[in-house]
Amino acid sequence: MKKVLIAYSSRTGNTKKVAEALCDAADGRAELVECGKAADLGMFDLVFAGYWVDKGEPDKIARQFLRKLENKKIVLFQTLGAEPLSEHALGCFANAGKYISESCSVLGGLSIRGAIDPNLIKAMCNFPEGHPHAPTAENRKRWLDASAHPDQKDLEKASAVMKKYLDMYDKQFVPK
Ligand SMILES: Cc1cc2nc3c(=O)[nH]c(=O)nc-3n(C[C@H](O)[C@H](O)[C@H](O)COP(=O)(O)O)c2cc1C
Repeated sequence: MKKVLIAYSSRTGNTKKVAEALCDAADGRAELVECGKAADLGMFDLVFAGYWVDKGEPDKIARQFLRKLENKKIVLFQTLGAEPLSEHALGCFANAGKYISESCSVLGGLSIRGAIDPNLIKAMCNFPEGHPHAPTAENRKRWLDASAHPDQKDLEKASAVMKKYLDMYDKQFVPK
């Protein structure tokens, strides 16, 4: 019986790619599902919960999923346009915590950069000067830097992270 669930929400495919890399690295021990389609969670003990960052928060579908979790060990994973360990990115983890029940324990998180939807970039190019997302040189650089992610290195990182968590989980939570 599989005890590990990888549930993800993805609008343009970045978070899905990371979820798939996590699943591949789990050597057949994990089930992969979209957050919106996750039905019976009873059998799972360890849940990798993935979301794309939407205005500093987990996206809406993922928020609904996080709220459903009870008595689970959780590893959060997120993709976002900003640098993955920036203050903004770390704040997004903190915001995800708001949707998680006290009955769960969060074991950790994985933050990966993800290309921003070109339609959103087009819209931001029309934002007026002074707007935080206006097309300044700094913002344009950030959008460009994000555009190649998640890349192979990111997916390898996800894979290594899965192996580490499974190792830790087996040592600390699986009775001998
Ligand atoms: C409406 C919207 C809001 C977003 N808000 C943020 C944000 O607050 N911070 C950030 O770093 N990236 C933000 N992004 C970028 C996405 O989080 C990023 O592109 C993510 O990798 C998309 O994942 P997906 O391909 O799985 O949908 C936003 C994107 C959209 C479309």
